[in-house]
Amino acid sequence: MPNGVPTSWMVTLYDHPPIVVKSGNGATFTDIDGNAYFDFNLADTSMFTGHAVEAIVRAVVEQARAGTQFLLPVEDSVEVSVELARRFGLPLWQFTLSATQANTEAIRVARAFTERSGVLMFDGKYHGHADELLGELDAGRVAPEGLGVPADATRHVRLVQYNDLEAVQAELSKGDVACVLVEAAVTNCGVIQPAEGFHTALRQLASENGALLVVDETHTLVAGPGGLTGRWGLHPDILVMGKSIAGGIPLGAYGMTAAVARVLDHRPSASFGEEVATGGTLFGNPLSLAAARVTLAEVLTDDTYVHTATLGRSLADGIEAIATEHGFGWRAHRLFNRSGYTHAPELPSNALEARATFDRELYNLQRLYMANRGVWDAIDSAGPACGIQSSKTDVARYLEVFDGFLHDVTHRRS
Ligand SMILES: Cc1ncc(COP(=O)(O)O)c(C=O)c1O
Repeated sequence: MPNGVPTSWMVTLYDHPPIVVKSGNGATFTDIDGNAYFDFNLADTSMFTGHAVEAIVRAVVEQARAGTQFLLPVEDSVEVSVELARRFGLPLWQFTLSATQANTEAIRVARAFTERSGVLMFDGKYHGHADELLGELDAGRVAPEGLGVPADATRHVRLVQYNDLEAVQAELSKGDVACVLVEAAVTNCGVIQPAEGFHTALRQLASENGALLVVDETHTLVAGPGGLTGRWGLHPDILVMGKSIAGGIPLGAYGMTAAVARVLDHRPSASFGEEVATGGTLFGNPLSLAAARVTLAEVLTDDTYVHTATLGRSLADGIEAIATEHGFGWRAHRLFNRSGYTHAPELPSNALEARATFDRELYNLQRLYMANRGVWDAIDSAGPACGIQSSKTDVARYLEVFDGFLHDVTHRRS
């Protein structure tokens, strides 16, 4: 494997060589040298449930015995759709294997529905690694991010700053935007919270200008039973998710209003090329759906979100208190189970501020220091997060090691 990893992107996530994992259990995992780690990265939130949860293991084993793929619906597909509809308030659901694929299909549905091509996103976003999703601002223009993405792949993409409603209005008023693709809170550039009224205005601007509103809850669905959509009363036309929804077994999903879903209605007289271009052989397979059914029914219960948000808050409180004790006026993010670092006295309101106030080199040094002491901190685009199996003891250990780090970097050894 190039770089010794299954996908070369994985090596870029860490500022040190990746470790090789042997096994995980609850909120910890162990590498092949026998070192154990408290897991605050949660595989970038996808292991919110914790590792090797018995109910999920049982469901997956039972489904593997009963068959893993038929290219047909199974009863679990219905059950999972019904439960997602109950939680997120959108009646109709489709399944993929990842959030990247769910976003790709959501954009196609939006384009078919609106008969427009433009997609409006926000600087600092990450919605996956499809060509079109990999656009970044370069001297005010949207340019492909990374080699191998064609120069014109992002020609339909517009990027504006999060919380900048004037810029949103300016782009939407051009009349060619099929959808606004937005995270409820930006979570791949630290955390950027929506300003008060941002989501309400976004919903209104999208409707007024004939664009659909697509909310990507891939990271934020861990905020509550219905994600931030439920917590904050959002009303997307399409809602995208992936990662933690099947306890770490690959599954992506997108839900739609009945009006939007009509664009997927099968017309027996239509040829393949006349239908919306969706699909993948292993999408929504029985193994993914068995895992999702049991994860939703037995693991992601209402009280677990209270537990994780309480821990997340104490982590953020501890980070701020320890940083202050060491003479740093830093702020910690607070997004339910998730915390994180702003190396400045103010939280950022957009990606420009987030990048300017986050000391990546320092954070990656901290990450390595903590890993060497048995705490697996978040990757540098995210922040430490607590999962269902995390405990007060884990948070106390995180804070103890963080305190040690700030002590050691501020005291010169002779
Ligand atoms: C908000 C958001 N959307 C989509 C994705 C893509 O998820 P995946 O890599 O599982 O396709 C990510 C991944 O980090 C994400 O954070």
